[in-house]
Amino acid sequence: MTIADIPKLGAFRRPDKHYLVPYLPLGSTVGAPEITAVTDVMSSGETLSGGAWRERFESDFRAYVGTPYALSTTSGTVSLELAVHLLGLRPGDEVIVTPQTYQASVQPLLQYPDVTVKFCDVRNDTLNMDPRCLERLIGPRTSAVILVHYGGHPADMDEIMDIARAHDALVVEDAAHTLGGLYHGRRPGSLADIGCFSFHSSKNITTLGEGGMVTFADEGWAERVDRLRGNEVDARFVAQRHTFGDSKEPLPGALYPGRAYTHDLVALLRHGTNATLGEAAAAMGVAQLAALERLVGRRRMIAARLRETLHGFDGLVEVCEEPSDIVHAQHLFAFFVRDPERLNRNRLLHELDERGVQTPLRYFPLHLLPEWRSRGHRYGECPTAEQVWFHEQVNLPCHPGLSDRQVDMMCDLLAESLRAARIR
Ligand SMILES: Cc1ncc(COP(=O)(O)O)c(C=O)c1O
Repeated sequence: MTIADIPKLGAFRRPDKHYLVPYLPLGSTVGAPEITAVTDVMSSGETLSGGAWRERFESDFRAYVGTPYALSTTSGTVSLELAVHLLGLRPGDEVIVTPQTYQASVQPLLQYPDVTVKFCDVRNDTLNMDPRCLERLIGPRTSAVILVHYGGHPADMDEIMDIARAHDALVVEDAAHTLGGLYHGRRPGSLADIGCFSFHSSKNITTLGEGGMVTFADEGWAERVDRLRGNEVDARFVAQRHTFGDSKEPLPGALYPGRAYTHDLVALLRHGTNATLGEAAAAMGVAQLAALERLVGRRRMIAARLRETLHGFDGLVEVCEEPSDIVHAQHLFAFFVRDPERLNRNRLLHELDERGVQTPLRYFPLHLLPEWRSRGHRYGECPTAEQVWFHEQVNLPCHPGLSDRQVDMMCDLLAESLRAARIR
């Protein structure tokens, strides 16, 4: 059996169909610096885990995002799980989340059955959490807000932080889409209490296909996350003892200094996991971070071409313009069909698909997934997110893996599809 015999079953792969412009073969392109970085690590004879490259990647990331701490992990999902743990949620607490994101942003909350999750509706242009809706939902029991910068467009952080701070709620930014973006001169991931990043193959940079990062300013959190990603438990060290806990067994002290924990954090005690980013992945991260501006520049160039094409159909479709005080990281590209009398969104998706442009809709409103329905969430809870996903939104491929020819083709095919789908 060769690799060609293995069926392609990735999330966006349709083995029966060849797309001229595929949605997601490769989010980030890899060149000679990445390949050299990885082969150098492999041939160095040094450790392949927990060495100098992880430290270097974390230090470069801290400098880039502008947070005192950046701890790498094996995925964005693990980063979010650790972030939610740091919130210290208690029974009866409420957490407000966005429904318009990948499920990993809110999935960790399923581990807290006694915490109430409220889905906050989104703006219909950026698909980010709507501050007006947040204002209505937040209350004395709200202990945290988890939002995403949808597609790379930074959320309305000034308003959101003001509302959250007025209620003493912590804010987690899922910044998985927005590496390379800017909000009022600052980097997403440094705008709230905790930032979470993904370096999955599709993202703006990748660390050998999987990886993540957690960013924040709190030194205590840094110690705890470091323990948790290294398979220890979340409890505090106490001063060195010569016996171990209640066992009274003598410890060979010089070998095991300080291996005793206080129990005052027992309510939060959590076992750790192995979420350590390997050295080859970290070395690739260093090279990719150095290439970020170029990679995001390419995404932005493709988005500009798509906008230009869509402007030829003003009135028929809407596309959200980039405000002057932000930089959109263009992890995704979305536009909207608002008037079904003139253009049917599903017909347009069909025309694009027929012509070989792959357009999966990102993302299905999370409150309607079975795991959230079984906790009482229902259609009607987030009318804007629902209306947009079911009737208005179109996502187009926008990643540096597309060649110039594919970008030209996509613009032509988009215009052709719009003409074919338009209701005269
Ligand atoms: C918004 C968002 N958050 C979190 C994740 C999870 O990241 P990972 O795939 O690295 O676990 C993803 C996607 O992969 C994402 O798009």
